[in-house]
Amino acid sequence: MLRAKRIILGVSGGIAAYKAVELLRLLTKAGADVHVIMTRAAQEFVTPLTFQTLSSNPVHTELFNLIAEREIGHISLAERADLFLIAPATANVIGKIAGGIADDMLTTTVMATKAPVLIAPAMNVNMYTNQIYRDNEHKLRRLGYLFVPPEKGALACGWEGEGKLAAPEAIFEAAVTVLACKNLVGQTILVTAGPTREEIDPVRFISNHSSGKMGYALAQAAARRGARVILVSGPVSLAAPGAVELVRVEGAREMREAVMARVKECSVIIKAAAVADYRPVERNQVKLKKQAGEMTLQLVRNPDILAELGALKEKPFLVGFAAETGNLREFAAKKLQEKNLDMIVANDVSQADAGFNVETNRALLLFKDGRDAECELMTKGELADVILDQIAAGLAGK
Ligand code: PMT
Repeated sequence: MLRAKRIILGVSGGIAAYKAVELLRLLTKAGADVHVIMTRAAQEFVTPLTFQTLSSNPVHTELFNLIAEREIGHISLAERADLFLIAPATANVIGKIAGGIADDMLTTTVMATKAPVLIAPAMNVNMYTNQIYRDNEHKLRRLGYLFVPPEKGALACGWEGEGKLAAPEAIFEAAVTVLACKNLVGQTILVTAGPTREEIDPVRFISNHSSGKMGYALAQAAARRGARVILVSGPVSLAAPGAVELVRVEGAREMREAVMARVKECSVIIKAAAVADYRPVERNQVKLKKQAGEMTLQLVRNPDILAELGALKEKPFLVGFAAETGNLREFAAKKLQEKNLDMIVANDVSQADAGFNVETNRALLLFKDGRDAECELMTKGELADVILDQIAAGLAGK
C-alpha cells in the first residue's frame, strides 16, 4: 500500500512518543521507507535505537552531524520525502513551525520540505485550548498543513479532555489518505458488502459466509482516492471505514431498496455483497416448533439487484462480482453479459485463501470490451486498489 513511499516521521518530546513506535510499525508493515527525526526532548522518552531498529534506517537527532551534513542531511532528507509526518507534535514544535523557527533537525527539515506535512498534536488540554496554540494551528492549516486531531480522554498529566494523541491506526489512515492517488475525486461510488439475512422466524435465518471484508476494503480504498462513498452493508462485525456513508440492511429486499433509492446519485456501483438468491416464502411470526419427521422449507427467488441495475436505461459504471466454485471464467463471462456489466470480478470461493471470510483474495477480472486480467493472491486491500485502478481507467475512457 505504501510501497516505494518515503516518509519522514518526526517525533517530538511528549509521553505519547512511545505511540510513535507503533505508528512506525504500521508504516513499515505497509511497505513505507521511514526516516525518523527525533527532537532532544523525544529522546528522553524513547531511545533512537528503538526507531532505528524498527525502521532499518539511521535516526536523525542532530542538526550538525558531520557525516550526514556532508550531503546537507536535512535538505536532502526534506527533498526526498513523499510525506512529512509529525507524531506526537508538541505545542512547542507546532509553535516553532508556525513562527518560522528552525533551530533543530526536525524544525529545519520541516521548513525545507515541499512534501505534504501531517501533524498529530498531543498535549495537555489547557495547552490545546490556549488561544496561542489555536492561532498557531489555524495559521498552519491556512498554509496547507494537515492535522490529525487529538482524542478526548484521560491525559498523562492527570487531566481529562482533548489533547490525547490520536490512535496510531487513525494517524496511519490519515497518512495513507494523503498519499493515495486522488483519481476518483468527484465520483459517487456505492459499494455493497457482506451477506444478506433471510429470516425464517424470529430466531433463525438463511445466510452465507460473507464477512464484508472485500466490500469494506473497496469502500475504504475508494474514500482514500477522494470519492464520496456510500456503503450498503449486510450484517457484519466490521467497523465502517471513516468518511463513508454507511447504510445498514438485513435482507436482499432491503438491500435492493437501499441501492435503488440511491442509484441516481451514483457514477459507479460495485456489488461485492453476497446476496441470498432465495428467501423463505414467508417469515413465521413466532418460533417454529420441532415436529416429528422431516421438515420442508419453501423458498422464493429474491430480486436480482445487479440485473435490475444493468437493465436501467441510464446506468452507472457497473461492477459485479462472481463467487464460483468451478468454471470461473465461463460463469463469470455469462454474468457479465447477462447482467449488462462494465466489469466483473470473479473469485473462486472454494480456495482456502480466497473468497469468503479471509484476508486475501485471488481474482479474474473480465471487461465488457473482451479484455481480461488475472490477479494473483493478494490482500483484499491490494485487490481493491487493482479494481479501483481499472474503474478509474474505465471512467476516463467512458
Ligand atoms: O465478504 P468477504 O468475506 O470478504 O467475501 C467476499 C465475497 C466472496 C463475498 C466477494 O468477493 C464476492 O464474491 N461477492 C459476490 C458474491 C455473490 O453473491 O456472487 P454471485 O455470483 O452469487 O452473484 C453475482 C453478482 O450478482 C454479485 O455481484 C452479487 O452481489 C449480485 N447479486 C446476486 C444475487 C442477487 N439476488 N442480487 C445481486 O445483486
